[in-house]
Amino acid sequence: MSPRGIARRVVAMEVSEGAGVTLRRSIGLPALRHLDPFLMLDHFSSDDPDDYIAGFPDHPHRGFVTLTYMLDGHMEHRDSMGNHGDLRSGGAQWMQAGSGVIHSEMPRQSDGLMRGFQLWINLPSSEKMSDPAYQEFGAADIPLVELPGQQVRVLSGAYGDARGPVQDPHTGVRYLDVTLDAAASFRARTESGDAGFAYLFEGDGRIGEEPMAPHHLAVLTPGDAVEVTAGANGARFLLVTGRPLGEPVVQYGPFVMNTREEIEQALADYRDGQLVRTAAVVTG
Ligand code: CO
Repeated sequence: MSPRGIARRVVAMEVSEGAGVTLRRSIGLPALRHLDPFLMLDHFSSDDPDDYIAGFPDHPHRGFVTLTYMLDGHMEHRDSMGNHGDLRSGGAQWMQAGSGVIHSEMPRQSDGLMRGFQLWINLPSSEKMSDPAYQEFGAADIPLVELPGQQVRVLSGAYGDARGPVQDPHTGVRYLDVTLDAAASFRARTESGDAGFAYLFEGDGRIGEEPMAPHHLAVLTPGDAVEVTAGANGARFLLVTGRPLGEPVVQYGPFVMNTREEIEQALADYRDGQLVRTAAVVTG
């Protein structure tokens, strides 16, 4: 077994998105433009409504998948497929924009804590113009694996005998939310060819012998296993892996394609009201 270490740490920077939502971005800024197949990771966490109340009014996407995980709070989702999503604490939403989706994500709370993550996962060129698709799961649908000193929520992929409900067929994404008691350890096998990262958002810990830092993305070195040990205050982190696509990435805001021409087509389609092509495909 070759354990993974930390290839580099990327500090999450505060950015303003949507109509003025403050969030921390790690993947998707010049310091780490992409981590193939991942295009962006945003972490929102605030109990100040001014940081989130404006929400994300109607906006387009083409060419990739968004995976949103709500830790605390309540968001309403509406999209051009006709989905009306209700994302509550502990729930997850997977949306394949494919050829094009226009959607909104708006808070359904006017105070209190809103906390969660949105990950953008790239699609292979063969799927970029595929039909949009949507999966949504509540907290009760997401398996919780409890072992001594650890709790693991399995959103996607497998951990032990548990399998997460989110199906990501194109890059085989595994997405775990791991909580460790003080000094407890977590071990998992990983596909050796997969890219991966850990994002620590509570407590402190280390990967192998290398310290993690709060609100830093730890890009993992290659390997077929990962071991994380919590510090004196316990730890909570996302552990995410997926198959790299190895294809050119050309991004313009919410459009992610393989060539400039395809981006120009996306902009023209959006301008001409042709971004949304197909009816809904709803699973899950
Ligand atoms: Co969006």
